[in-house]
Amino acid sequence: MTSTESLAPKAAALVTGASSGIGLELAREIAAHGHDVVLVSRRRDALEAVAGTIEGKFGVRALVIPADLRLPDAAEELYASVSAQKLEIEILVNSAGFGLGGEFLETDMLREVEMIQVNVTALTQLTKLFAAAMVRRRRGRVLNVASTAAFQPGPLMAVYYATKAYVLSFSEAIAEELRDTGVTVTALCPGATATGFAETAKVSNSRLFTKLGVASPQSVARYGYKAMMRGERVAIPTLRDKIMIQSERFAPRALVTKIARMVQESR
Ligand SMILES: NC(=O)c1ccc[n+]([C@@H]2O[C@H](COP(=O)([O-])OP(=O)(O)OC[C@H]3O[C@@H](n4cnc5c(N)ncnc54)[C@H](OP(=O)(O)O)[C@@H]3O)[C@@H](O)[C@H]2O)c1
Repeated sequence: MTSTESLAPKAAALVTGASSGIGLELAREIAAHGHDVVLVSRRRDALEAVAGTIEGKFGVRALVIPADLRLPDAAEELYASVSAQKLEIEILVNSAGFGLGGEFLETDMLREVEMIQVNVTALTQLTKLFAAAMVRRRRGRVLNVASTAAFQPGPLMAVYYATKAYVLSFSEAIAEELRDTGVTVTALCPGATATGFAETAKVSNSRLFTKLGVASPQSVARYGYKAMMRGERVAIPTLRDKIMIQSERFAPRALVTKIARMVQESR
């Protein structure tokens, strides 16, 4: 199905950031488990290519809705567009997001503000709109893509790390509020993953991406899907990252921040 053909009233999963990387693989994973999908990001052509592959391979329906989540009205417009198509969103995946490397005083202010809009504000608005409908139906899953960056301050990528700390904190808090409603909220916290992310953020040369090993978006998506369906609140895909995050809890915050800086520096 293409963007011009509407879906009949039916439950579906909505995935933002579905044109590439982790969001694309999550959309494929969800479709592989038999769900229709609504694919959202800015690039219509890329989304339509993903939709074609998903429909051909998994026999589900894929609807494309292009949206630029930097725009303040984008989340409300997306919700209205989905409602107009009489679609019930039973799974919401907020994967759209990006980072920006560099000393905070040197980075582009507009880009930082756009990052907060996409990573934080749009994610919050979409969660509010779609989770409210899920609670009314007493059924639903929300998967918010945070990061291992959520667990400590990130010098040289300060705003990005802070946005992910928000996503983790917000997701855990509302997971607790929504307990017993039939709706679960999961924060997926991948470490460095081989997607377009590092290039967009201009951090391809950081030790994080050159020295520490990079996961595949397929493995992150498989892990994230399972954790979401089990209703886990925090999902960290690799054992190494689980151990790292646990050990940080016992170390002085200033030391953790210094190490995070070293990891963000170029090799
Ligand atoms: N890769 C990593 O190392 C890593 C690690 C931890 C967490 N994450 C998180 O994983 C999520 C997905 O990133 P990725 O690694 O898959 O990177 P990616 O391949 O660059 O994908 C980013 C996705 O976000 C979409 N997007 C960006 N700006 C948007 C906007 N203004 N409006 C709507 N969609 C927008 C992009 O689509 P369009 O360009 O078509 O708009 C794309 O589909 C992000 O939230 C990221 O912070 C990534």
